[in-house]
Amino acid sequence: MNDEALLERLRSEGSRSPADVVLLVDAARLAKAESDNMFQPIQSNVLNQAIPERFRSKNNLWYGFSARARVIVYNKENIKPEQVQTYQDLASPALKGQVCTRSGSHPYMLSLMSSLISHLGEYGATQWAKDVVANMARAPKGGDTDQIRGVASGECGVALSNSYYYVRLMRSNKPEDQEVVRKTGLIWPNQQSFGTHVNISGGAIAANAPHADKALQFLEYLATPEAQTYFANGNNEFPVVAGVKLENAELEKLGSFKQDVTPAQVLADNTRLTQQIMDKVGYK
Ligand SMILES: [Fe+2]
Repeated sequence: MNDEALLERLRSEGSRSPADVVLLVDAARLAKAESDNMFQPIQSNVLNQAIPERFRSKNNLWYGFSARARVIVYNKENIKPEQVQTYQDLASPALKGQVCTRSGSHPYMLSLMSSLISHLGEYGATQWAKDVVANMARAPKGGDTDQIRGVASGECGVALSNSYYYVRLMRSNKPEDQEVVRKTGLIWPNQQSFGTHVNISGGAIAANAPHADKALQFLEYLATPEAQTYFANGNNEFPVVAGVKLENAELEKLGSFKQDVTPAQVLADNTRLTQQIMDKVGYK
């Protein structure tokens, strides 16, 4: 079941819901569920000590358990890596007709926009979104993997994707996926400035959890080193607990990078404004 279907089910079940733990991806989606009163506050010194502050809600309503980066993928034949080192580069007139992304209303794009609002200001981020729309190779459609495939086929020169989709292709045995990886390059954006946008997979205790105590135990378990490795590897993501090693050869191959340290809470707080901007500039 995907996140949207899961939230719809929780909503319709209301106070009769048997759910204890809710796992969701992206700060924008966690924020939406929080504002729909779907979580209950968590009191846990274990979680507060293990999970860095920037990966959790200020009201202790949700915690991040793994992290993903939003990266730039480019076609090695048609685009030079120097052209696409930053998110701002995607708005450059030099990339007219080259840019592909998924829908501007998707949480991954809303959260990225939230971070750009915090770095470039509302005006700068709005201008960015407008210019990216003007650079699009095609109207947004599909998920991040579809954008990567579009880059490999040459329909797109450059695209945005969450890091784990690229790693999934790297780990695939299918010749067509290997071909996609061969034809594309990955950039960690904004290494000379504010760093690459990082988001979370998060967990919370359902507002109507019948077993809130067990739910808390499970979330605390997710913060242990063993669970961190297992949970992160399950989706080729990064652990969030300090000192937990990556045990993922393909992900390690991509090297380390400077992370944007904008707190997930700030990304969450900006989401409503971000959607308004996307609507205003016609980022469908
Ligand atoms: Fe995803």
